[in-house]
Amino acid sequence: MYSLSRKAEDYLEAILNVILEKGYARTKDVAGVLEVSPSSVVEMFRKLDAMHLVEYRKYEGVTLTDKGRAVAEVIKFRHDTLKRLFLLLGVPDSVADEDACLMEHELSEESIRQIRLFVDFLDSGGVSVDIGKAFAEFCRAGPDKKNVK
Ligand code: FE2
Repeated sequence: MYSLSRKAEDYLEAILNVILEKGYARTKDVAGVLEVSPSSVVEMFRKLDAMHLVEYRKYEGVTLTDKGRAVAEVIKFRHDTLKRLFLLLGVPDSVADEDACLMEHELSEESIRQIRLFVDFLDSGGVSVDIGKAFAEFCRAGPDKKNVK
């Protein structure tokens, strides 16, 4: 598909999220999302610009090129898919976000596609029981009643 560093993928995803929220992405917004310094952001903006993934304008920030947006959308899709799975499993929101961000770079397209279909299936009411609720009840029963370490 493409071969970018995890860090570059994280930046593209963060830029897309900021753009979706604010309509544009300034250096300080992206620095805030990724919890890095503005100078690190500018450095990466320049690299991404050289790769034709963003257009960087000093003092203004960045916009995504078509190519950059396509990559960012794939990463965001992966993130959103994995986060939905973790939330269904009862993982707390902030942990679900962090873990989705780790796994989004590593899983195969096949696994992501099947996970997406699975969470869509569960959300579509395609099963007669609310799996998320039933699983939460199962977890509440306590690890001593199950083989969970
Ligand atoms: Fe992410």
